[in-house]
Amino acid sequence: MRADEGESVTRVAMAGAGRFGALHLQVLRSLPVEVVAVCEPDAGRRAAVQEEFGIAAGYASLGDLLARERVDLVDVVSDESSHGKLVLQAIDAGCHVVVEKPLCTDVDEAERIRAGARERGVEVVTGQISRFGAGYQHLRDVLDRGELGRPVNLRFRRDFSRSWFPAFGKRIHPVWESGIHDIDLAVWYAGAPCRAVYAVQRTISGLEHPDTLVAVLTFANDVVATLESAWLVPDAAPQTLRGALELDGTIDAVTELLGDRGTAAYRLAHDGLTVRTDSAVAHPELTLWPTVAGRVSGALREELGYAVEVAAGQRHNDVIPLDEAVEGVRIAAAIQESAQRCTRVSLGG
Ligand SMILES: NC(=O)c1ccc[n+]([C@@H]2O[C@H](COP(=O)([O-])OP(=O)(O)OC[C@H]3O[C@@H](n4cnc5c(N)ncnc54)[C@H](O)[C@@H]3O)[C@@H](O)[C@H]2O)c1
Repeated sequence: MRADEGESVTRVAMAGAGRFGALHLQVLRSLPVEVVAVCEPDAGRRAAVQEEFGIAAGYASLGDLLARERVDLVDVVSDESSHGKLVLQAIDAGCHVVVEKPLCTDVDEAERIRAGARERGVEVVTGQISRFGAGYQHLRDVLDRGELGRPVNLRFRRDFSRSWFPAFGKRIHPVWESGIHDIDLAVWYAGAPCRAVYAVQRTISGLEHPDTLVAVLTFANDVVATLESAWLVPDAAPQTLRGALELDGTIDAVTELLGDRGTAAYRLAHDGLTVRTDSAVAHPELTLWPTVAGRVSGALREELGYAVEVAAGQRHNDVIPLDEAVEGVRIAAAIQESAQRCTRVSLGG
């Protein structure tokens, strides 16, 4: 698959070609890159993706792929718990990396990624998609311009369809799945290191992982962030996600920033767009990965286009610096520990 025949085309390999990997591939085919190989352990899935996207080489393991292919950028879109190992393998091979959220699910691994990237001189872009969404960016701009004065409290609520939980409740603790979006936004907006975390979780579904989570984060500049997430939205709620991910349902996410001179709020999906049929009402979300003019667009396209520019040395990795992604991993691990041990976890400093 070649979108640009120029000399300087970035050679990309994908690790993990599931639902979201296929969406990445749709974006990548309209960027100035060549996807030279895909690594996907599921042989049927691998063959299907290679055929659909015209990718010449397929492998079951990233190690084999990196031993045989010349690659500039590895796009990691596998299950959350495999990210750390795959990112480290790519760094060891001297490749730049773009990795879906989270960067990894272990603090030691995050530190090894930071050290390895520095040592090998490669860039690691973490796909914290909210930083590439216009609404969340606008909140950051409002803060930077001082329109709210000094930030005081940051509030985040992110709820998901209950019907999605059986697929995720056995996979990973939701702090790494849904929670990491708002942890990253808290890091981005607070602008100071997190000093302590207190979290409470409940398991309503009876599955392995909790489906509700509430956390309070305190930052070194006294900013307090509250995060609340529940996978309890009923089927009859207005759908906000339809089509692209084969996962029709609802993400209901609200962010509020309170400063000493003003407040600001953003709702990810809202009734600005309404579709009513005999069986459902939908408010389709339009910023994350909408299809516009026949191609996948929005924040996902911004994110991958940015990663390609960073890998090509055309811009600095200043939107999601690796240090801030590592900070997100540190906070997520502390939230998980706090909720499991029913105690406040200090992050030092
Ligand atoms: N930014 C967002 O809003 C958003 C939305 C959906 C998914 N995601 C992220 O995308 C990633 C993938 O999610 P998904 O929904 O596509 O999951 P998925 O289960 O559909 O796909 C994951 C794929 O990775 C493959 N895989 C597993 N271990 C691997 C390994 N060691 N090497 C290579 N491939 C491996 C699996 O076989 C599977 O095909 C996750 O990190 C998820 O959190 C992000």
